[in-house]
Amino acid sequence: MNSAAPIGIFDSGIGGLTVAHTITKLLPNENIIYFGDTAHLPYGDKSTAAIQAYSIKICNVLLQQKCKVIVIACNSASAAAYELVREYVGSKAMIINVIDPVVNFIGENFTEKTIGLIGTKQTVGSNIYLRKTNALNRDVQLKSLATPLLAPMIEEGFFNNNISQSIINQYLENPELSGIEALILGCTHYPLIKKQIEDFYHKSVSVLDTSEIVAKFLQKYLSDNQLLNPMNAHIRHFYVSDYTTSFENSTKLFFGEQIHLEHYPLWE
Ligand code: DGL
Repeated sequence: MNSAAPIGIFDSGIGGLTVAHTITKLLPNENIIYFGDTAHLPYGDKSTAAIQAYSIKICNVLLQQKCKVIVIACNSASAAAYELVREYVGSKAMIINVIDPVVNFIGENFTEKTIGLIGTKQTVGSNIYLRKTNALNRDVQLKSLATPLLAPMIEEGFFNNNISQSIINQYLENPELSGIEALILGCTHYPLIKKQIEDFYHKSVSVLDTSEIVAKFLQKYLSDNQLLNPMNAHIRHFYVSDYTTSFENSTKLFFGEQIHLEHYPLWE
């Protein structure tokens, strides 16, 4: 595999730019190709079959661009399509999802603890975090709650204000999440409301920003496999399956700086 080849990153839309941003900060030498499936977002409410079909289409785009690694920067797609995508891509690229690195982190740091998870209906309903944390055999008790209003709320720019705080509080007060010692932000939109969630818990609960955990996992993987790019990055493409100026304006929220989105229709 060519170490100078780009890293492909995809999400249902622009929420995965939180992961892409953390990756570019941690691995500034890496070439990046991002694909946001804005024509089909949100994935969180879609069927498993639909998410699998979209994910395979996107992987074809990223494979055409010769990506060495594909990061599924979306919990809903990681839950619904990771196994299928891995089989489909085979040895052409390594596939990293956003769930396994976080489950490993829980296993290493939260043995015998009670952990909360918030995410989309697809992610929580799939029970994938539950199955994987149980498989750790570390006596981790997982308590999950679907929080479907949060991603659209953030996309509309509602965070760090009273309205978003009251929606967040409503969800976090749910008895389903009582007694937790850490909370997994199981949706790539949620790093934007990490501070508000920490404020709710007055720092008594560790709020796990999964983008950092995933970026560190990717760095270690590339380093262990001699796949770190030895040259300076020169490729940065951000494709979307449906383009609007409002998507482009919102990139600043998720990436920290405004970036140019290129339209790449998935189905012609
Ligand atoms: N970014 C997606 C995730 O991590 C959530 C948004 C969506 O529903 O498409 O699950």
